[in-house]
Amino acid sequence: MKMMKHPSILILLALCICSTEATDPMADFCNKDTNISASSRISANIDALLAQLVSKTASTGFLTSSYGNCQARFYGLAQCRGDVVGSKDCSSCIQDAAKQIRQRCPNQAEAMIWYDFCFLRYSNKTFIGKVDTSYGIIFYNTANVSDVTDPKNFKKELGALVDNIKAQALVPKNLGFGKAQTKLSPSVTLYAFVQCTRDLSKPDCSQCLATAVGYYQTICGDRKGCRVLFGSCYVRYELYPIFYAVGRMNVGAHDTVMTLV
Ligand SMILES: *[C@@H]1O[C@H](CO)[C@@H](O)[C@H](O)[C@H]1NC(C)=O
Ligand SMILES: *[C@@H]1O[C@H](CO)[C@@H](O)[C@H](O)[C@H]1NC(C)=O
Ligand SMILES: *[C@@H]1O[C@H](CO)[C@@H](O)[C@H](O)[C@H]1NC(C)=O
Repeated sequence: MKMMKHPSILILLALCICSTEATDPMADFCNKDTNISASSRISANIDALLAQLVSKTASTGFLTSSYGNCQARFYGLAQCRGDVVGSKDCSSCIQDAAKQIRQRCPNQAEAMIWYDFCFLRYSNKTFIGKVDTSYGIIFYNTANVSDVTDPKNFKKELGALVDNIKAQALVPKNLGFGKAQTKLSPSVTLYAFVQCTRDLSKPDCSQCLATAVGYYQTICGDRKGCRVLFGSCYVRYELYPIFYAVGRMNVGAHDTVMTLV
C-alpha cells in the first residue's frame, strides 16, 4: 500500500521522462562510406553499445567500450568536457548524444556527434587510442575582433593563452582539458579551452591540438570566436564566458558559419 501513497508523483515523473526531447548537437558526422543495411543484428549491437556508454560514462565522464562479435563488432567512446565531468549535464548530454546519433546516422557503421558538453562516436573499426583529425568542422563568428580590440594584440594574447591551456591539457590529472581567460581591455575578456579525448597519449593529444589550433591562424583569423571539432579533440575561443556553470547552456552565437576541413 505504501507505493500507492503518491501516485500523482509517479505519473508526473513518467510524464517528464516521456516528454524529454533530446537537444540538438553542434554537429554530427555519419560516414557515408560505411553504409549498412539496417540489419537487426547490427542495429542491435550498436544500440547495446550505446546503452553501455549511456549507463557507465557519467561517473567518470569518460568511457571506451565495445560490443558484438566478428563482422558485427562495434567500438565506442563517450566523453564529457573536462569542466562538465561530475555534473548532471554530463549524463544528460551523453543520453542526448546516444539518442541523436542513431536518429541522424541510422544506416552507418561509423558516426560521431559533438555537443558543447560532450562527445560520442562509434565505429566497426578500432579507433581507440588513435589520433583522428581526418574529418573536421569549424564554426567561426563572422564578426571581426577589430570591432572591439586591436587585432595584433588579440593574436598575441590568443597565442599565449593557447600555449598555456595546451600545456594544461597534457597534465594527466587534467583529463585532456585546459582552460583559461585573459582580459584584453577593461571591457573585453578572451576565454579559451582545449579538450582531447582521454584515450590519447600525450604526443597524440598534442598533435591533435596543434592541428586544431592551427586553424586559429587561417580560417579563424581575426574572428571574434571559433570552434574546431575533430574526432580526437575540440578547441574553442570566444569573447564571452564559455566555461561550464550550472544552468548556462554554452550554445554558440548565432552569427556563425560552419565549414568542413
Ligand atoms: C550511403 O547512404 C546515403 C543515404 O543514407 C547515400 O546518400 C550515400 O550515397 C550512400 N553512400 C554510398 C557510398 O553508397
Ligand atoms: C565496417 O562496415 C562497413 C559497412 O558495412 C564495411 O564495408 C567494412 O568492411 C566494415 N569494417 C570492418 C573492419 O568490419
Ligand atoms: C578584420 O579587420 C582587419 C582590420 O580592419 C582586417 O585587416 C582583416 O582583414 C579583417 N579580417 C577579416 C577576416 O575580415
